[in-house]
Amino acid sequence: KTEYVDLRDEYDIKEGIKKAAGIIKKGGLVAFPTETVYGLGANGLDENAVPKIYEAKGRPSDNPLILHISEFDEIKSIVKEIPKTALILAEEFWPGPLTMVLKKSDIVPYRTTGGLESVAVRMPSNKIARELINASGVPIAAPSANSSGRPSPTKASHVILDLDGKIDMVIDGGAVDIGLESTIVDVTGDVPVILRPGFITEEMLSEAIGRVEIDEVVKSLSPDKDLKPKAPGMKYRHYAPKGKMTIYKGKPERVVERINEEIAKSAGKKTAVLATDETKMYYKADVVISVGSREDGESIAHNLFDALRRFDDVGAEVIFSEGFDENRLGFAIMNRLHKSAGYNIIMIKE
Ligand code: TXA
Ligand code: MG
Repeated sequence: KTEYVDLRDEYDIKEGIKKAAGIIKKGGLVAFPTETVYGLGANGLDENAVPKIYEAKGRPSDNPLILHISEFDEIKSIVKEIPKTALILAEEFWPGPLTMVLKKSDIVPYRTTGGLESVAVRMPSNKIARELINASGVPIAAPSANSSGRPSPTKASHVILDLDGKIDMVIDGGAVDIGLESTIVDVTGDVPVILRPGFITEEMLSEAIGRVEIDEVVKSLSPDKDLKPKAPGMKYRHYAPKGKMTIYKGKPERVVERINEEIAKSAGKKTAVLATDETKMYYKADVVISVGSREDGESIAHNLFDALRRFDDVGAEVIFSEGFDENRLGFAIMNRLHKSAGYNIIMIKE
């Protein structure tokens, strides 16, 4: 039985946090909000607790977890060395939506790192997350709190839909702030490499540390099956709604026209469009969901995963999505959207 704890309007969260920390200490599972997405937490140093995360999510065991800390000093026991770049990035972006991959120390079990010699570490800024880590007294291993393959949860209700009965507790802290998972940067080599784009953009990183690279697979629009992404999790099918989804890129007016043509050809099927405030009124689909203004990347990021989940709720069979600006935050948004659509992308020329 999963216990639900509502801390949305609590001024004093101590009682709820204490209970949740008790579960973590005993080797149980607690889902909790972070500023990016909800996480499914367990004691990241407990070899018997960590496998429960994989089991609850149905996650492949070679897909490593992120260790969450609440104070910088906690990193010292879980990594072998802290390169200069890591110090600068921590100073600049922690607490916040940045994960760093470093060389793991001996106390981090291979169960947590999926057998790798490296470990991913993040210090979240969300208050509930920080107090939970602090009260638990251990680094908390936490992947996104969704069933493997589904969009990451941005609300407690998403977690409950996926994991009710499979975990010990869900802490409701309201809708998350950002809505996309953290940026992951590998700082084990000479040049830092972005393994997963997020709210902290390439531009923001290079402003702080100079040159950064982006993993080839992340840049690719038709990923070569033989090319392995450096973040093991990026190779799995992810975020995909049950319906067949296609992204149409081009001038918004032309995209609207083309999608309406495709809707007309899909008679008899339940059609849905992922639209924006500027275009939503023009579509003739059964269901139209706007993720916000085209001009407002933060709103698109915030609403994207909820919209993808709603397509399943309404039983959408064919889904048409607009494409968005691919700069800065848009790069992370389109990275997730490309995956949702299984890289079905149509470019409308002219
Ligand atoms: O925003 C976030 O990062 C959220 C919240 C809960 O903190 N967590 C999250 O975790 O998105 P998860 O497990 O859904 O995604 C972690 C990604 C996976 O793609 C995994 O393969 C990669 O990080 N990863 C973890 N450890 C790694 C390592 N040592 N080397 C390379 N990639 C790693
Ligand atoms: Mg995930």
